[in-house]
Amino acid sequence: MRCPKCLLCLSALLTLLGLKVYIEWTSESRLSKAYQGPQDTRPGPTPASPEPTLPANLSARLGHTGPLPSAYWNQQQWRLGSLPGGDSAEAGGCQAWGAAAAAEIPDFKSYPKSLRRFLLSAACRSFPPWRPGSGSGQVASCSGTDVPYLLLAVKSEPGRFAERQAVRETWGGPAPGVRLLFLLGSPEGEGGPDLSSLVAWENHRYSDLLLWDFLDVPFNRTLKDLLLLAWLGEHCPGVSFVLQASDDAFVRTPALLEHLRGLPPSWAQGLYLGEVFTQAKPLRKPRGPFYVPQSFFKGHYPAYASGGGYVIAGRLAPWLLQAAARVAPFPFDDVYTGLCFRALGLAPRDHKGFRTAWPADQTADPCTFRDLLLVQPLSPQNSIRLWKQLQDPQFQC
Ligand SMILES: *[C@@H]1O[C@H](CO)[C@@H](O)[C@H](O)[C@H]1NC(C)=O
Ligand SMILES: *[C@@H]1O[C@H](CO)[C@@H](O)[C@H](O)[C@H]1NC(C)=O
Repeated sequence: MRCPKCLLCLSALLTLLGLKVYIEWTSESRLSKAYQGPQDTRPGPTPASPEPTLPANLSARLGHTGPLPSAYWNQQQWRLGSLPGGDSAEAGGCQAWGAAAAAEIPDFKSYPKSLRRFLLSAACRSFPPWRPGSGSGQVASCSGTDVPYLLLAVKSEPGRFAERQAVRETWGGPAPGVRLLFLLGSPEGEGGPDLSSLVAWENHRYSDLLLWDFLDVPFNRTLKDLLLLAWLGEHCPGVSFVLQASDDAFVRTPALLEHLRGLPPSWAQGLYLGEVFTQAKPLRKPRGPFYVPQSFFKGHYPAYASGGGYVIAGRLAPWLLQAAARVAPFPFDDVYTGLCFRALGLAPRDHKGFRTAWPADQTADPCTFRDLLLVQPLSPQNSIRLWKQLQDPQFQC
């Protein structure tokens, strides 16, 4: 080739191409780590004892050794973690935490709107039930002989009627020892249609909705966990296990029951079971999903079970509430639950039958599900089809 300029151009192009491939490769591998954990996630270190404890100083539990980062969450956690019985809403009511965050975080104004809104109200954690007009359809407490072995607590949103109905018609249907509840915020969404009368009717018809008067947005999901824990303490303290799942999950309830009944008691007592991510790190791409700014949080996430669906031991409910009073608010509900378990000294257990990033093209063959316990996400249509196939006595793989 007699063209030195062409050669130069060509090599420059090749370098650029190489760089692009490298950048894509690194960002992808980081992404997959943060979302789904590496494919070979192993259960975290096995706890020495299944008994939860909550030490006066949480720093060591949460892995905060060495110099304290200046990020807001880390600072708050350091304070809260060594306050005996501390509560983030303590000084000046629940709005104070948010106001202080807004004032103290130098680049607060550049945070995504949802995160700003989260921080402003994050310390407000007590909300009254949302009561539809006539007050009918109230969810009954678990009574004497009717204490469920497994409570299916499904996080939904008011407008997701079809998802809820599919759960009722499939894996959440009536079964001995099993009870189904949906967790919802207010049906009076901000700027959306007012679904109050529809939700009120649904509640009257099925009496399986736990409704609270807060805005039902993703960053408010932790409220559903905390309010459920409080509800359990008051209305269902004897429940053995609680499945926390999203309404697009598909659960092989009979297989899950069998698995739970077969657990060694020492595991069952401190159970936190699901698809466990042990290596997840915060994503730092502004405007990307799950973005967490450097000025808000530094460090790794704790090992946690994916929020698509996990099972906890019912007896841990009061412990988790106590831990939550000492763990600073975090926008992602599943990471937050992981933090609370870590504060209690309990590790999640990974189970290969929980698959929460299920590829949409793998739902056709019911045999794929033979060894699985929980899959997410699945559409209402696919859930119904699959449930029928799996119930069929002729079904064989
Ligand atoms: C809590 O423990 C950490 C590390 O274990 C320590 O650096 C810190 O000073 C302790 N805080 C209090 C208030 O004792
Ligand atoms: C959560 O709900 C509360 C009460 O309705 C609301 O003030 C807050 O802004 C909501 N959080 C987010 C992130 O929108």
